[in-house]
Amino acid sequence: APAASSPRPDPSLLTLVSFDKLAPPPAAPVPPAERAGALRAIREDIGDCTRCPLAYAGRHKIVFGDGSPTAQLMFVGEGPGADEDMQGLPFVGKAGQLLNNMIAAMGLKREEVYIANIVKCRPPGNRVPEPVEANTCSQFLLRQIDVVQPQVIVALGSTAAIYLLGVRRSLSSLRGYWHSCRGAKLAVTYHPAFLLRDPRQKAEAWKDLQMVMAELGLTAPKGK
Ligand code: URA
Repeated sequence: APAASSPRPDPSLLTLVSFDKLAPPPAAPVPPAERAGALRAIREDIGDCTRCPLAYAGRHKIVFGDGSPTAQLMFVGEGPGADEDMQGLPFVGKAGQLLNNMIAAMGLKREEVYIANIVKCRPPGNRVPEPVEANTCSQFLLRQIDVVQPQVIVALGSTAAIYLLGVRRSLSSLRGYWHSCRGAKLAVTYHPAFLLRDPRQKAEAWKDLQMVMAELGLTAPKGK
């Protein structure tokens, strides 16, 4: 047995489980006409959530997710920042403006995609969510994915990739390949907040988005 001075870490805090392994696939797909209602039901289940420490870390609004309940394309970020926390909507700050530009460059409107995050409450000071926070919140994002049934999921940054795929690997080793998540094809790219800090990587991110566009049969709008 381990010495009392070196307790074995709680494995639930350390073991990464992919969204595919967290729960069996949905028994039956939610028909398109029922998806908006099914998403509202998930939001009601979340309620005024106190399931994880982020509930007590200065959160203003729970950021559930936004967009089309029948989207073919879903973006998953890390967690709300200050602007998102105040408005209750994902990706509405500076990084959100860049994400909007990325969506437009793909020939889509923001209302046509679905946008959510690994955690629904703002981590204080925008720190990376702790495993207990991400793991506690994952059940709801998993249900959102199962309702929307996107054809493609784009993981924005390593936090989204790590938790969706259940692997702790570098972003560079995950980019450029198709992964899978809850029946969707999953691509990994840079988080827009990272691209704001290092705009030279935008060309690389565009390659990732072009892989997604080819899969969805999208072409970039003219005059760009
Ligand atoms: N960064 C994220 O990861 N998510 C948001 O909603 C906003 C910024």
